[in-house]
Amino acid sequence: MQSNAPTRRSTIHTWFTMAGLALVSLAGCDSGTSPSASAPKTPTAPTQAAASAPAPASEAGEVIIGHYGSLTGAEATFGISTDNGIKLAVEEVNAAGGLDFGGKKHKIVLHSEDTEGKPEKAGTVVTKLITADKVVAVIGEVASSVTLAGAPVAQQFGVPMITPSSTNPQCTAVGDMIFRVCFIDPFQGYACAKFAAQDLKVKKAAILFDQAAAYSVGLKDEFEKNFKKMGGEVVAVEAYTKGEANFNPLLTKIREKGAELLFIPGYYTDVANIALQARKLDMKMPLLGGDGWDSADLAKNGGAAIEGSFYSNHYASDQPTPEIQVFVKTYKEKFGETPDGLAALGYDAARVLFDSIQRAGSTDGSKLRDAIATTKGFKGVTGNISINEKRDAVKPAVIVEMKGGKPVFRARVEP
Ligand code: PHE
Repeated sequence: MQSNAPTRRSTIHTWFTMAGLALVSLAGCDSGTSPSASAPKTPTAPTQAAASAPAPASEAGEVIIGHYGSLTGAEATFGISTDNGIKLAVEEVNAAGGLDFGGKKHKIVLHSEDTEGKPEKAGTVVTKLITADKVVAVIGEVASSVTLAGAPVAQQFGVPMITPSSTNPQCTAVGDMIFRVCFIDPFQGYACAKFAAQDLKVKKAAILFDQAAAYSVGLKDEFEKNFKKMGGEVVAVEAYTKGEANFNPLLTKIREKGAELLFIPGYYTDVANIALQARKLDMKMPLLGGDGWDSADLAKNGGAAIEGSFYSNHYASDQPTPEIQVFVKTYKEKFGETPDGLAALGYDAARVLFDSIQRAGSTDGSKLRDAIATTKGFKGVTGNISINEKRDAVKPAVIVEMKGGKPVFRARVEP
């Protein structure tokens, strides 16, 4: 994170020249005007129309969008769920005829690229999406460290990017092309601290965080700051590195400090391992975490060790609002499982993008950027989405409790 800053800056300089070149080629990328993109593919395009210069209003155009995410690797459910959410949004729009702008309908084509959850892959895949696949906008990534590596590329090519779920504040600070449809970690840290201090009435908390993940470091800081402000005491702060096999030395140190709660701002694979090892050490306190826990694999891998623990998230699938229930039903029918928060955010990010393209009436980078920036009160599955001046969304968080292997709504925290 911090140590990445100089590298990021030099990457930005390198991209300047390429960005200039890319912008020239991207100028022809508005599928409304690009001849290659509007090649008739549907039987509705009459053959005799080829003779007359202006395209008939019924001829379908195409809009290509990109997604980069962890489709494999330790956080694979993040990328897969997000991709599924985006796919559902794409299918729904295409089934209704496509995006309507520039006097004709445009089918959406989705290109997805795998980052394996690795920041070092992000630059390559975002460059490929933009330069080879000619996407007009990019959705991704989930993990803040990967988004921080991919965002400078989209920024320099002048292609709008929406991260559905990266919560580290720095992600959208990369530049004016970078947006998110989720809340940020200063709020998420506050929500977790408030729940611990006021709902669980915890006085002493310990923290175990991933020192190499921007998300984890940031959320740790915000939780600690807010929990102390609320009168709590942080009795231990220990750091791990993603993928560690043996958490016993760290957990043993924490065990001696008499914490009533262990806050783990990490991702689900590590969290499940930590939970299993903590229970073996007879540590019975509730565990609390952030959205990084959100995966069906948390309960699959953590089993009983994770029961009765809590995490903050962007939505709870058991909430009875019509937006959520319709989405849950449709998603389940298509993918055979309950959508997690990532799926909901992927769906919302895609729909905000489609709405913006229609309002912009164009896929030109700067016009599209302006339209995304002026998104106000968009009704998403994860709540109402309004983009603020920092290109972030301000939304409530939910706290869920792991019960019977499933996250169950427990509380809602307003910003
Ligand atoms: N907020 C996490 C990050 O920034 C990613 C995440 C979001 C994971 C939502 C799960 C659910 O790294």
